[in-house]
Amino acid sequence: MAEPGYVVLARKYRPMKFADLVGQSHVVKALSNAMTTNRVAQAFLFTGSRGTGKTSSARILASALNCMDRGDGFEPCGRCASCVAIARSEDLDVVEMDAASNSRVDDVRERLESVETRPARGRYRIFIIDEVHMLSTSAFNALLKTIEEPPPHVKFILATTNPEKIPETILSRCQRYDFRRVTLGEIVDWLEAICAKENIRPGDGVLQAVAEMAEGGLRDALSRVDQLVAFSGEKPSLEDAERVFGLVRRAKLLDLLEALAGGDARSGILFAEEVFDSGKDVAEVLGSMVSLARILLLVAAGGGDERGLDVPVNELPRLKQVADRFGIHGLVYLAEMISDCRKRVRRAAFPRVLVETTLVKLSMVGNLEPLDRLLARLYEASDSAVSIQRNESQSAKELPDRQESKPAKDAQVAAPKNDKSGTLSERDKAALDALKRQFGAS
Ligand SMILES: Nc1ncnc2c1ncn2[C@@H]1O[C@H](COP(=O)(O)OP(=O)(O)OP(=O)(O)O)[C@@H](O)[C@H]1O
Ligand SMILES: [Mg+2]
Ligand SMILES: [Zn+2]
Repeated sequence: MAEPGYVVLARKYRPMKFADLVGQSHVVKALSNAMTTNRVAQAFLFTGSRGTGKTSSARILASALNCMDRGDGFEPCGRCASCVAIARSEDLDVVEMDAASNSRVDDVRERLESVETRPARGRYRIFIIDEVHMLSTSAFNALLKTIEEPPPHVKFILATTNPEKIPETILSRCQRYDFRRVTLGEIVDWLEAICAKENIRPGDGVLQAVAEMAEGGLRDALSRVDQLVAFSGEKPSLEDAERVFGLVRRAKLLDLLEALAGGDARSGILFAEEVFDSGKDVAEVLGSMVSLARILLLVAAGGGDERGLDVPVNELPRLKQVADRFGIHGLVYLAEMISDCRKRVRRAAFPRVLVETTLVKLSMVGNLEPLDRLLARLYEASDSAVSIQRNESQSAKELPDRQESKPAKDAQVAAPKNDKSGTLSERDKAALDALKRQFGAS
């Protein structure tokens, strides 16, 4: 149980200076250059997936801009009155606004009322607007007016996970920084360092497994460590992690996929039974399978090039082996089927049947023809059908009375020749329909 006053790890370990940020060196480099050369933009936009450091960086940048003891460097000192107040979200010169809960135009107007006011202590008045994509259209318009020509003592830092929802007019006035998903290795190293400080001694493979589930987000990774420790104390084992998160080890999933690739439908049914009987969260298990399918696809598509592959080197031979069993077409199908199943499973009336049928269908992948070959065959078949028809009509032309009586049929047969593009897409459609029927995908 968490003791009273317990601060979750993700808050306790909020980065307070640029050097604490993990995995975002490109952002740090650009921002620090701007600071040391005094070419700081008036408006910044921090984008990227959940828990990668956007809000933390907005605060670090605000501290750095107003730090009273920064000297020639770019890091905030962390000790001066301004840095301390910003860390507590109590600074008068830094206005933080969460657009998720303040999305109306009045909220924006109210916060921006003070733009003309000179900063109380620091060099700048800094407006941090978090989750900025949540602003209403009129709220964006109100913001736009100020962002177009802010007074020289004002800086804006906007943060969002959904940059595509931000109007072009705002985007074009911001300097944009994309926060990237953090790699597996970086997450594991970072978690190890925190665990050492917290006296947490995870068993072999635990942090690797946690990092894999986090999909590049550090907050998510750390929250899972919290959850694990709450469940099993300071020495969580891989078995604990499997129980808490409904994890299935990658090695086991690879065994399953290999069996399916070999046409072994029974292994799919047995696996579904095991997952459902163990009370694991089946959506999480399917999620691990989707991640694995993605890795296998990268392995297959990379053709021996391992760049961008975020897996331990010693697992590569086995991954290659299973990827080869499916082939790239089979893997695409696998990834689509499982992610579709994952999407539907929580709302399914009979989730177990859904998972079983999905796995059984996957066991048929090995027997399916690759998409391109199947399409080629369909083209061939329809080409010969057309030529048969053409021959028929040709012989019909030789009989004057029949030709006169059936002009419409000739026109139809001639049509594919005249309108090649139309026929092709018609043919594609028919081929895809046939595929869908064969694959049973919706
Ligand atoms: N790049 C990072 N370096 C170190 N810690 C990080 C990083 N990104 C996230 N964290 C951890 O996650 C917590 C939350 O980070 P932060 O609020 O900055 O993420 P965010 O990108 O704003 O997330 P969201 O998209 O959910 O708003 C931090 O307190 C820290 O523990
Ligand atoms: Mg945030
Ligand atoms: Zn300071």
